[in-house]
Amino acid sequence: MIGHAGRGSNMLALAQNIKSDPNMTLATVIAPNMSAPGVIAALDLGYPVQHVPYEPKETYTSRLLEALNEVEWVCLAGFMKLVPIAVIQRFRGRIMNIHPALLPKFGGKGMYGIHVHEAVIQAQEKESGCTVHHVSEIYDEGEVILKATCPVLPEDTPETLAAKVLKLEHLSYFRALQKVIDGE
Ligand code: GRF
Repeated sequence: MIGHAGRGSNMLALAQNIKSDPNMTLATVIAPNMSAPGVIAALDLGYPVQHVPYEPKETYTSRLLEALNEVEWVCLAGFMKLVPIAVIQRFRGRIMNIHPALLPKFGGKGMYGIHVHEAVIQAQEKESGCTVHHVSEIYDEGEVILKATCPVLPEDTPETLAAKVLKLEHLSYFRALQKVIDGE
């Protein structure tokens, strides 16, 4: 399952890799919002998409669990909400997320989207990158599966850095999924 809310570039990159791997099946893309660009692209490509809106809140967890019934591995990609505890518990060790920085730095509250790259540049870091990690009850704090790095150059802006990191993300998420499946 690939949880996804917006642009969906990681979801689409991952889905494409999964589809071309004879040993894997893309079980479902969970879509909170059917008009998100990534979801529209996934539908165009014929990927299995399930609409699981956040509302009504009271039934969100049970509807999400139901949608994940046939799923073995869960990859969050741009999922903007906290994952319900019951979902984390059901998939412990089999649910992962990607973050656009080198955790544990630049993670946690407020660290999403362009804010992450602004903070990295502000802190004059020499390198950045992405982290794929297991999802635990504490935001951005699950065990790291894989990190990939790129240099932060003096001329980098938050936007150029975001573009570099996004390229790395597209290469890293599938590798991380394979690593976890292979038990490495
Ligand atoms: C990515 O930067 C990812 O690291 C973070 O959310 C962003 C989603 O981008 N979790 P996209 O929708 O996959 O293009």
